[in-house]
Amino acid sequence: MRWSAARYVTFEAERTRPVYDLLATVPLDTAAYVIDAGCGPGNSTEALIARFPGASILAFDSSAEMCAEARRRLPSARVEQWRVEAWVNTGGGVDLRRPDVILSNAVLQWVPDHAVLLPKLVDRLAPGGVLALQVPDNLAEQSHVFMEEIAAEPEWARLLRFATAARTRIEPAEYYVRLLRPRCSDVFVWRTTYYHELRGGIADVVEWMRGTGLRPFLDPLDEEGRSRFLKAYHRKLETAYAPLDNGSVLFAMPRLFVVAVAANR
Ligand SMILES: C[S@@+](CC[C@H](N)C(=O)[O-])C[C@H]1O[C@@H](n2cnc3c(N)ncnc32)[C@H](O)[C@@H]1O
Repeated sequence: MRWSAARYVTFEAERTRPVYDLLATVPLDTAAYVIDAGCGPGNSTEALIARFPGASILAFDSSAEMCAEARRRLPSARVEQWRVEAWVNTGGGVDLRRPDVILSNAVLQWVPDHAVLLPKLVDRLAPGGVLALQVPDNLAEQSHVFMEEIAAEPEWARLLRFATAARTRIEPAEYYVRLLRPRCSDVFVWRTTYYHELRGGIADVVEWMRGTGLRPFLDPLDEEGRSRFLKAYHRKLETAYAPLDNGSVLFAMPRLFVVAVAANR
């Protein structure tokens, strides 16, 4: 799947707000070694550095384009290209240090098998270390449902047969507590809906989703197909998002947060 750093940062302030809310809940004053798993263009890494100044940091991402952008933005940070599934198994090549914090913001919704991955991430932490993750929990939002509806139409169904499965379903809070509590001293889970006033109206909703959720639906299409898909998507969004008096729309984005503190082993 292709990621465009330029498109992703269009709504950077809105996309980064959950990182600050997540980091505010990490119950550590200091940290020696911190990881940003799925750093994207470096926006979440920047917040992690601000929260733990002086910590040694590794930021990694599966996308070469995102890594390049993160290096440009944060020239003194160590940025490497890894898939989180590989990093957690190898510990990052020869790096044997155990991190105090693993942050993963808006990444793990693209990675399957949380039942295996999340306990492994906790097991990589130093004793008392913290896994802090946030995932968009928006598959029931109309902004997502509409793309699935269009993809299921006969015209698109064959080409887009894998698009819906690209996202991992987010489980209820209790699932994450049950999964992580046996190896943690504390697990905090919360769900927040952010309401973003998008000043460009429906066109901004489309642009936001093009930076993230729409990618598996657009990547398999040629330019003409993409344009038709986006027109159909735009029309459906108009039925669900009524403009405010100033022409903005209020775009709801529910997100699930997990902060898991590794037990002192
Ligand atoms: C929505 S962006 C999040 C970027 C940043 N963390 C933030 O807070 O805005 C998702 C990022 O996850 C990366 N990603 C997707 N699957 C991944 C994987 N399996 N391992 C590592 N990174 C992955 C993508 O390349 C992309 O940069």
